[in-house]
Amino acid sequence: MKVTLSVIKADIGGFVGHSDSHPQCLVRAEKHLAEAKKNGMLIDYHITKCGDDLQLVMTHQKGINNKVIHEMAWDTFVSCTEVAKELKLYGAGQDLLCDAFSGNVKGMGPGVAEMELEERPSEPIIIFMADKTSSGAWNLPLYKMFADPFNTIGLVIAENMHDGFSFEVHDVKESKGISFNTPEEIYDMLVFIGAHSRFAIKSVSTRKGEIAAVSSTQKLAFLADRYVGKDDPVCIVRAQGSFPAVGEILEPFAQPYLVEGWMRGSHNGPIMPVSIEDSTPTRFDGPPRVTALGFQLSNGMLIGPRDMFKDKSFDNARQKSLDMADMMRSHGPFEPHRLPLEEMEYTTMPQVSKKLAGRFKPLED
Ligand code: 13P
Ligand code: 13P
Ligand code: MG
Ligand code: MG
Ligand code: MG
Ligand code: MG
Repeated sequence: MKVTLSVIKADIGGFVGHSDSHPQCLVRAEKHLAEAKKNGMLIDYHITKCGDDLQLVMTHQKGINNKVIHEMAWDTFVSCTEVAKELKLYGAGQDLLCDAFSGNVKGMGPGVAEMELEERPSEPIIIFMADKTSSGAWNLPLYKMFADPFNTIGLVIAENMHDGFSFEVHDVKESKGISFNTPEEIYDMLVFIGAHSRFAIKSVSTRKGEIAAVSSTQKLAFLADRYVGKDDPVCIVRAQGSFPAVGEILEPFAQPYLVEGWMRGSHNGPIMPVSIEDSTPTRFDGPPRVTALGFQLSNGMLIGPRDMFKDKSFDNARQKSLDMADMMRSHGPFEPHRLPLEEMEYTTMPQVSKKLAGRFKPLED
């Protein structure tokens, strides 16, 4: 049976500030998706949040980039924004950057990760959702899951994974993409994916072409006076069989690493694996959070979720993230905590430079 799994998300308003989502917005989303399930548009759905981002997890049989599904998701976000406006939540409708739906939510503000798959006899999937970071944040963990034998022993000892995987990498600034086969091309690939603010992994497939993972990476669109499309990303990963085991998929997050985002989208900080309940970025609007919901698909029904990072085995990672957060915060407004000028979401550089232009004197040789 062919099933499409669509995860579409948007920040429609924060409670309080950018720290969390309001339960009434989730209730409104539930009403819309229940209706879509009742009328047969969706097979099943699950509504959740990661920090201030509303997450719609949906299954259907309409394929990816389907206009009907995207429009229903857009209308749901518009309706939830009405609730956010009534409650005067912070940044109500923040990620809805266009006035009217135009065929596909991509480039309109929301984030989208979708895959069409032939459901296996058992189909475990993990949905990662992050807040206060960008889609390049998936590069390191996806590399570890699918290309690093120190993380994924299956690459070495499981016959059905031994051939490696194929990575689709997008240059989000120049709007072009390239595929790399691993393990043969890992050195070439790392030149690019190590630069995660520009090159982001869009998808991973087996060497036979079966989809293994897909992220919400999209080309950056200049909308509403800023670049949109890399914010607070999601990623779907299939597990077991010819894909990594669930534990191999979660393992990269046991070693916290630095990502772009955090306060005002303009800082480097550690990504902290947390339960959905603990996805409430509060300290300096962070540190950035990653959540992971596990489902078993059963004829398109979403059996679950299991809140995978709730597990005690991620306690050390959380503590490590908090220690890294202290270390990064001690730099205050200095790089490498603050992002380099061209990556900051907020900057006063043009205004300050203009004001001081006359005071800059050429240096003598
Ligand atoms: P089981 O033998 O319990 O199925 O475990 C296999 C496996 O892949 C564990 O990572
Ligand atoms: P969000 O993208 O999660 O709304 O964060 C915005 C921000 O600037 C936090 O400081
Ligand atoms: Mg917000
Ligand atoms: Mg957010
Ligand atoms: Mg955001
Ligand atoms: Mg942001």
